[in-house]
Amino acid sequence: MDRNLALEFVRVTEAAALACSKWVGLGDGKSADQAAVDAMRKAFDRVNFDGTVVIGEGERDEAPMLYIGEKVGDVGPEAPKIDIAVDPLEGTNLCATGDVGAISVIAIAEQGNFLNAPDTYMNKIAVGPGAKGAIDITKSPRENLHQVAEALRKPVNALTVSVLDRDRHQDLIKEIRKEGARIILISDGDVSTSIATSWGDSGIDMIMGIGGAPEGVISAAALRCLGGDFQGQLKWRSEEERARALKMGIEDSDRIYNIEDLASGEVMFSATGVTSGPLLQGVRFKSGGFVETSSIVMRSKTGTIRKIETTHRVDGKAWVL
Ligand code: FBP
Repeated sequence: MDRNLALEFVRVTEAAALACSKWVGLGDGKSADQAAVDAMRKAFDRVNFDGTVVIGEGERDEAPMLYIGEKVGDVGPEAPKIDIAVDPLEGTNLCATGDVGAISVIAIAEQGNFLNAPDTYMNKIAVGPGAKGAIDITKSPRENLHQVAEALRKPVNALTVSVLDRDRHQDLIKEIRKEGARIILISDGDVSTSIATSWGDSGIDMIMGIGGAPEGVISAAALRCLGGDFQGQLKWRSEEERARALKMGIEDSDRIYNIEDLASGEVMFSATGVTSGPLLQGVRFKSGGFVETSSIVMRSKTGTIRKIETTHRVDGKAWVL
């Protein structure tokens, strides 16, 4: 893949973040999501590529979507065929309530390199480069905590684990606490915390628990770039969902996916902050018609991580780049 594509795609997450930033704190997640989706779709159509959305969002919560199978991009001559995993607004509720850590995010790969999963749930474990190879989702949380602590050469009670604050995690939380590890409960946004395991001094060593499957594939792509590790297993809410997945080619519905099974080959990743969080600052409104955004863009091939601070001049025009 042309390395410049990564930089083209920062414009796409910037456009989505800017569009939904109008809705921060207004209590209307649907409109925020719609604004991000519309801006992302338009921005895609300004990039010369032949894109197919393979991981989209929306079926689960009927959000406005860039749907699975949707074609995007300005398909010029020799436009590369690219698969895209999108989450135009990861953390819809965080944006609606003005809470920390909403981001706009995309991951891209050459055709056929992302798990083509339906919009369901996924049990996940993510860690940073220091604990790569030390996770095994078939083992208990206790065993994983001890393996990760050993890899990181620190006691279990010095580990910090991020878990989505959901009823389904009561047993998991009890087990982690019993081992003495520290927990950061989050209301939403496990892409950010998955990345945070591999991110400088975020203080998060590990994520565990069940979240969205699309977010799992996107997190795996990001961690491929950062050298972290990820495992996932799809979690079905109904037999109907399982049957639909079978039609999409998922024959072993209990399969354990390693990081490369979710995102293989060369991948690129871009994220822009909507509200400020552990990774990125949110969209900032300045005087004089300027707006600032913070983004990261990464490539698995080189492991390069670019932090991009952009000043957008809006001049009182509509909030579209
Ligand atoms: P949205 O971007 O769709 O709001 O997802 C936010 C999120 O918290 C994800 O980070 C997480 O993977 C998923 O929702 C968890 O799903 P649920 O809220 O149904 O438990």
